[in-house]
Amino acid sequence: EILESRTLDAVAKYIKDGHISDIVVFVGAGISTSAGIPDFRTPGKGLYDTLRVKGLPRNEAIFDLAFFKENPDPFYSLAKTLYPGSRRPTITHSFLHLLHLKGCLLKVFSQNIDSLEQEAGLPREKMIYAHGNFLTQRCIECFTEYPDDEMREKVEKEEVPRCNSCNAFVKPDIVFFGEKLPMEFLDNMYLGHRAQLAIVMGTSLQVQPFASLPQELPEGMPRLLINMFQVGDLGTRADDVLLLGTCDDGVRQLASSLGWLEELEELWAK
Ligand code: OAD
Repeated sequence: EILESRTLDAVAKYIKDGHISDIVVFVGAGISTSAGIPDFRTPGKGLYDTLRVKGLPRNEAIFDLAFFKENPDPFYSLAKTLYPGSRRPTITHSFLHLLHLKGCLLKVFSQNIDSLEQEAGLPREKMIYAHGNFLTQRCIECFTEYPDDEMREKVEKEEVPRCNSCNAFVKPDIVFFGEKLPMEFLDNMYLGHRAQLAIVMGTSLQVQPFASLPQELPEGMPRLLINMFQVGDLGTRADDVLLLGTCDDGVRQLASSLGWLEELEELWAK
């Protein structure tokens, strides 16, 4: 065992004892729910439960490439809600930024497409976007890129953008079911093995291959889960620490244990 006990204070001590220049963080939709963006699977609240869009055979089809090719309307009636620009990062996003400022952050693996990590101040090179990003878009047939300003206009109006050269549908560069994951993710999937601590936050770990990354980390690397519920295999190893509750409360507690709370609140308030 590496940690003195399976507590947050032990994690904080481990960090402060200087062991840690390399923390790898795995995040999902739960880090953005307090910014007003729904997650996918929380019963009664998540998109897959609450979506009421006409013409969808099942809610998951909204992110299905084969379905999109047939009928992109449902996706574009939702896209406005998910489009970056209108939301403020959460204190959890600022905590990621703080880890970077303290020189502790190896990488953040994110399944989110809201770009709030970068909006909170994290440099692009600290991010691995496993499911792509809303920042660029292209034609699904000829792959010609489509201009950002035209995209923003279409999304606002809930209209389907069409390729300026071949007139096929345009899709943001977010990964749909049935698509290959970005090279950026595939090339760096195992980068976390170099870390000294892993933090998993706000994800149900239901979608592969992302879901298996925390369990593939070397035995003996302490893993901290901050989530409403226990997920994956977290909690099964001697050096796992579970902090069940909201991400925002969890990062405040961790920052407080580290003596960084005031700094965190200031960073978030900026
Ligand atoms: P999910 O909705 O599957 O899981 C979100 C997790 O965060 C759940 O365990 C919630 O309990 C937890 N949660 C929600 N709000 C929270 C809060 N404020 N504090 C702490 N925990 C909270 O979302 P993801 O795991 O991100 O993929 O979903 C993974 C992928 O499934 C998404 O990237 C998306 C989706 O299909 C694609 O579209 C390709």
